Amino acid sequence: MDAEDLGTDLEKVLIDEQSLQDRLREMAAQVDADYAGRDVLLVGVLKGAVMVMADLARAMSIHLNMDWMAVSSYGSSTKSSGVVRILKDLDTDITGRHVLIVEDIIDSGLTLSWLMRNLTARGAASVEVLTMLRKPEAVKVDLVPKYIGFDIPNEFVVGYGLDYAERYRNLREIGTLAPHVYS
Ligand code: IMP
Ligand code: MG
Repeated sequence: MDAEDLGTDLEKVLIDEQSLQDRLREMAAQVDADYAGRDVLLVGVLKGAVMVMADLARAMSIHLNMDWMAVSSYGSSTKSSGVVRILKDLDTDITGRHVLIVEDIIDSGLTLSWLMRNLTARGAASVEVLTMLRKPEAVKVDLVPKYIGFDIPNEFVVGYGLDYAERYRNLREIGTLAPHVYS
C-alpha cells in the first residue's frame, strides 16, 4: 500500500519509496565492498526488518546467508527495558562467522546492544549493524551502527516494515500517523 491508500490516517510522508530504495542501493554497494571475499551472514530481526532484508539482500551482488531472530524486550510497550527474551533463535551456528545484523530502526538502542553482546558471546568473527533508521536517543548509547540509512527526528513512524498495532508494515513509504489513529 502507499500513502494514498491510507488517506487521512497518514499525517505526513517522511521518506518516500524512491529515497528508501536509492539509499538501500548505496548501502548494499558499501556492504558488498566491505564483505568482499568474506562469508557474510545477514541476521534480520523479526518482524520489522523483513522489508529492509528483502531489498538489501537483492541489491547486494556478493553471496550471502540469511537467518532470522525474534526478540521481545521486557517493559512497557512504548519503552524498551534492555532486558530481552529470545522468541526465535538463529538456525545457524555463528562461531567464526561475519554477522551483519539488519534492523529497521534503532530507538533507545537497548535491544540491539543486548543482541550484539549475545551474538559476540557466541564466538562470531565479527558483529556489525545495518539499520534503515536511527532516532536521536540512539546516539546516546555506546553502539555505533556501521551502516545507517537515515537519521530521523524523535517521532513515531510506520511503514516499510514498521508497525503501529501490527498495521502499516506494508506501507511502501515511511511516515507518521495522524493523531486520530492513536485514539
Ligand atoms: P529500542 O532501540 O530497544 O528502543 O527498540 C527498537 C524497537 O522498537 C524497534 O525494533 C521497533 O520494533 C520499535 N520501534 C521504535 N521506534 C519505533 C517507531 O517509530 N515505529 C515503530 N516501531 C518502533
Ligand atoms: Mg525491530
